[in-house]
Amino acid sequence: MALLTQAIKGTQDVLPADSHRWQYVEKKLLDTASLFGFKEMRTPVFEHTELFNRSVGDTTDVVQKEMYTFNDNGGRSISLRPEGTAGSVRAFLEHGLHNEALPQKISYVTSCYRYEKPQAGRLREFHQFGIECFGAPLATADAEVISVAALAFENLGIKNLRLEINSIGCPTCRAEYTKALKEYFASKQADLCETCRGRLDRNPMRILDCKSPICSAIAEEAPTVLDYICDDCRHHFEQVKAHLDVLGIEYTVNPKIVRGLDYYTRTVFEFISNDLGAQATLCGGGRYDGLIEQVGGQPTCALGFGMGLERLMMVMEAQGCSFPLPPVCDVYIAPMGEEAVLTASMLCRDLRAEGFSAQTDLAGRGLKAQMKFANKIGAVYTLVLGDEEIATGKAKLKRMADGEQIEVTLQGGLVEAVYDDLFADAFEDLNNAVENFGNKGEQ
Ligand code: HAM
Repeated sequence: MALLTQAIKGTQDVLPADSHRWQYVEKKLLDTASLFGFKEMRTPVFEHTELFNRSVGDTTDVVQKEMYTFNDNGGRSISLRPEGTAGSVRAFLEHGLHNEALPQKISYVTSCYRYEKPQAGRLREFHQFGIECFGAPLATADAEVISVAALAFENLGIKNLRLEINSIGCPTCRAEYTKALKEYFASKQADLCETCRGRLDRNPMRILDCKSPICSAIAEEAPTVLDYICDDCRHHFEQVKAHLDVLGIEYTVNPKIVRGLDYYTRTVFEFISNDLGAQATLCGGGRYDGLIEQVGGQPTCALGFGMGLERLMMVMEAQGCSFPLPPVCDVYIAPMGEEAVLTASMLCRDLRAEGFSAQTDLAGRGLKAQMKFANKIGAVYTLVLGDEEIATGKAKLKRMADGEQIEVTLQGGLVEAVYDDLFADAFEDLNNAVENFGNKGEQ
């Protein structure tokens, strides 16, 4: 039975009591990105495996060990997306967005899949909010992308994050750096893990993010990329820093950040939180100026970031950030008798048409049990419909907070009464505010 009633390890359900929190966070993130001109894009959950091999990189942990890859019934190798960038680049090219006005700015909220060892903040199915900006070579774009994340955190009330930035250069200066890394790691070859020995020739930069304690200790002393970047890359990095300075976004340069995916060039960055334990990176991104060409397009500069939503929620909870209250039931109608059941359905329809949430009995319960249910769902008002109410066409709308009863006519009067009672105070406040504003204007 466990197979039927237990979710797969490393996955999480969002229950009805919590879904409004997710909706709130996702909307805030997409709305923040939209202030900068980013528009949402939705891509499939799976892609041809080759796309990830080419973009994320076939020597990365993500591709080598973590992808959910399978052959479909047509014999094609398919992978669940481990991240959002590769699919976005594929869609950008496939739909000719490179022919539209550049830069193209897209945002997304997607599920991602990585076969990692699950722990707090590390899941096998997780969710990312991300943005990608295609066709923007200037350092202004790097700073803008970072500002989207910074403003999103601010809008959600998240504090105490550390922004770390680095430049990992372009293919030209990377060649020099790779040579230096190869020489360094070759001298320690015997101590490296088997995977890293394999990486030595193909992609020595990947040794820098190996999780084995011995390889990490060796990597500590490795040459740092900032000592090898060319003049153009250095100038670009200086400009990114200058932009962040004028925008008032604090950062530290961490020459050890290389990121775990192969497509990055120049600027890379991470937002890190002390409230997350071992999985401290909340958001990671950077430039990937070579990727679009690598996937088959014209050379096009690009950059973006991905933010882990489960980690974001963890930080928000740890920091006591405020979330909106769950939606409530405005009116619960308790019918007693056959005709009342029909009238209740009709009244619920009328209330919903005006935007109020309304519920009625779906379980054939007695009055007492219905009232108990109305209490449990936090109904703001209840209305009992019995023979008398049906006969007179009048009923009492009960405000549950204080027991106050308002007499309403069933034909048209209910919606009006709910409207007046719910919004009377708000209208009064609004009227007072308008009056006060008017008075100030006259002074
Ligand atoms: P990434 O650093 O691999 O970058 O992932 C971005 C974020 O996703 C991480 O900082 C973390 O918050 C979250 N994340 C990653 N793996 C897991 C996991 N197993 N469980 C929970 N959360 C996780 C990328 O994915 C790039 N596509 C980002 C990017 C976009 N770069 C440029 N554009």
